[in-house]
Amino acid sequence: MARRRQLYEGKAKVLFEGPEPGTLVQYFKDDATAGNGAKSGVITGKGVLNNRISEYLMMKLHDINIPTHFIRRLNMREQLIREVEIIPLEVVVRNVAAGSIAKRLGIPEGTRLPRTIIEYYYKNDTLGDPMVSEEHIAAFDWASPQDLDDMNTLALRTNDFLMGIFMGVGITLIDFKLEFGRLWEGEEMRIIVADEISPDNCRLWDSKTSEKMDKDRFRRDMGRVEEAYQEVARRLGILPEA
Ligand code: C5P
Repeated sequence: MARRRQLYEGKAKVLFEGPEPGTLVQYFKDDATAGNGAKSGVITGKGVLNNRISEYLMMKLHDINIPTHFIRRLNMREQLIREVEIIPLEVVVRNVAAGSIAKRLGIPEGTRLPRTIIEYYYKNDTLGDPMVSEEHIAAFDWASPQDLDDMNTLALRTNDFLMGIFMGVGITLIDFKLEFGRLWEGEEMRIIVADEISPDNCRLWDSKTSEKMDKDRFRRDMGRVEEAYQEVARRLGILPEA
């Protein structure tokens, strides 16, 4: 096969030109960074696991009519996706206090929030992805009010659905990050879920023991990172029983 043209290299993934117009190939690396690049390392096998976990969850979302960029998995580390115009926002959905909200507002980690909270961050590495409000998003025209409304609805539906999937396998969905893209079909535009859904961008705690099964194990030097990702995949029924 002819070597594909690389379009973009991020911290954990690479995007290549796809085989047909309007498609891309998303390649999952084992590289991991935290603190906006302050800490970096390799989690052996992470790319393979995230490719499978994201495939599984995005296919489940498709089944309940939540549109995503996922088309099909190509091999161990690559998936075919729809090319979208990425909206420069990270949409974080929180059910339980952890990470930055725990620190910022002084809420002990593990405290259930009074209601689900959605936050927006402006995707900009140089600035360290600052948190922004709907006012900023409207003023700088990063997303229209309709786009934002669509993103909120999709984010909350995704949260309800993922919470159920994870609860069924003994995992609590603490929080997660979504990215969205605009997909043009002629004159029509739809907002769809893009990027990935994996232990890299979700906080997943064992429901019984509260053990962390996500990237916080890497961020906080807790060890057994790959094992935790593997366990998430195994519980979802993706890996054969050990
Ligand atoms: O660090 P913070 O508590 O704000 O993270 C909230 C959620 O968003 C976590 O699940 C984290 O993994 C995810 N996140 C991410 N990419 C970022 C920042 C946060 O996937 N750049």
